[in-house]
Amino acid sequence: MAKISIDSGVADFECTDGDTILRAALRSGHGMPYSCNVGSCGNCKFVLVDGEVGHLRSDAPAWSERDMKRKKWLGCQARPKGDCTIKFRADPEYLPPHQPIRRRARLTQSQSITHDIREFRFEADGPDDFRPGQYALLEIPGVEGARAYSMCNLPGEGHWSFQIKKVPGGAATEALFDLEPGSEIGFDGPYSTAYLREDIPRDIILMAGGSGLSPMVSIARGIEAAGLLEDRKVHFFYGCRSKEDLIALAELPTPLSDKITFYAALSENAEAGHRQGFLHDVAANEFGEHLKDHEIYFAGPAVMAAAVQKTAYDLGVPMSQLHFDEFY
Ligand SMILES: Cc1cc2nc3c(=O)[nH]c(=O)nc-3n(C[C@H](O)[C@H](O)[C@H](O)COP(=O)(O)OP(=O)(O)OC[C@H]3O[C@@H](n4cnc5c(N)ncnc54)[C@H](O)[C@@H]3O)c2cc1C
Ligand code: FES
Repeated sequence: MAKISIDSGVADFECTDGDTILRAALRSGHGMPYSCNVGSCGNCKFVLVDGEVGHLRSDAPAWSERDMKRKKWLGCQARPKGDCTIKFRADPEYLPPHQPIRRRARLTQSQSITHDIREFRFEADGPDDFRPGQYALLEIPGVEGARAYSMCNLPGEGHWSFQIKKVPGGAATEALFDLEPGSEIGFDGPYSTAYLREDIPRDIILMAGGSGLSPMVSIARGIEAAGLLEDRKVHFFYGCRSKEDLIALAELPTPLSDKITFYAALSENAEAGHRQGFLHDVAANEFGEHLKDHEIYFAGPAVMAAAVQKTAYDLGVPMSQLHFDEFY
């Protein structure tokens, strides 16, 4: 156990063995900025004022030699080697609505959705408290490092479900798709600030690119469960390559309401009844300058997330109306 002092004594928290500085800070109720939790976005950088830390991943993409020289470390990767003093700009936006908990989880079932997406259901020790749109970190046996996966179900259902896209040759997804029911994994969560805001009265746009399906399905289900479909229009855009990747909201393992308008954007070949093009272009063509009248949630590969942000910026959507996780 190490004591971590923030900003030379402004506050402190404890970091248990094996935990990282970011996750320990969030568990203790400190709003340390972050996004991916896996060393790729760089949002969690802090300055090490005193003490010694080591990184989980020495090859973390968001950490450079320049950072090392400036004593900057990634909170999601840094494990203290003793008591430390650190500096970062806390922001209440990052305070977790539910305390993230490290625990064990068991795979109970899995089911195919498309040729390369499966829905996995786990039961985990402790409460299943989270917000629609959030993710958990899964430690899969035999795989180095945890991977982030977003829940597709709702809290309080007694399980944690994830829609996961198989990456050819991917270490975690290859192992997950071979996992037998009853297998145990390490589990830590929930995380993410890209969760459903029920109190904002605007109509809602959900955009999922490929593997980004899971959190958008959870948010769509959260919207329905909260009764928001009574007075808000909800538009669900799904971006994929071709016909074989297509999904239908009514045919998901837990079907979504037919009050939600669905648009599929196929980047390779258009199919009858579906749009051709990239997700951000299809949404921009549909709404134009009215995009800014919506609360927008999106998830998917970093390149798609960057394109959606640029489109939203060009069409005058305030950043505060965008809620997203980039998948690395
Ligand atoms: C916030 C977030 C939510 C996500 N939600 C989903 C989801 O709901 N569904 C889905 O299908 N995918 C999701 N992803 C992507 C997912 O986490 C994996 O990146 C993806 O499944 C590929 O993993 P892989 O190991 O099979 O592929 P690989 O190609 O083997 O690994 C790819 C990823 O693992 C990282 N990595 C490599 N080594 C390590 C290590 N030692 N420690 C930690 N990370 C390492 C790489 O930087 C890369 O980002 C999400 C990603 C993020 C960041
Ligand atoms: S690099 Fe740490 S949260 Fe993304």
